[in-house]
Amino acid sequence: MHIERYEKLWIYAFVIMLAVFVAALMAGAILFNVRVPGSAGLINPANLDETAFANPGIHDMGDGNYEVYMVARMWSFQPSEIVVPEGAHVTFYVTSADVTHGFIIEHHNANLEVLPGVIGVTNTTFNTPGTFKLQCHEYCGRGHQMMHIDIIVEETEVALAANEE
Ligand code: CUA
Repeated sequence: MHIERYEKLWIYAFVIMLAVFVAALMAGAILFNVRVPGSAGLINPANLDETAFANPGIHDMGDGNYEVYMVARMWSFQPSEIVVPEGAHVTFYVTSADVTHGFIIEHHNANLEVLPGVIGVTNTTFNTPGTFKLQCHEYCGRGHQMMHIDIIVEETEVALAANEE
């Protein structure tokens, strides 16, 4: 079969581009641990008081694992502050009581769209002590820019003792 020279070049270019895109996808997934955030199910936003979201907060699951149940609403997050020890592995379950909000944690691989009716789930590990912003990053009305909380990662006693030596 005869293929025009330019047509052939475009076919090669296309195959090379595909290979680059697939390599980038694999590198993101394997080297940078990029994960698409998931959904832990559906929920009635009018009935949050009858669910695990009735008492938003952090739960110590042992062995450095924590679970956070979080409610986003115009224009705040509940809980309004999260304190974890250094090294904590935290799974966030997040839902909205009203409109679509965002959820992103500064310097961490945690990014969700927070939809009413959906339980978003993502997890991340806090390896560095410090204060990190958890921010709504989807425009949700006139108070959007005020919608952020602090995540405080405390140095653990083991780490403190090691520093004092
Ligand atoms: Cu909530 Cu922007």
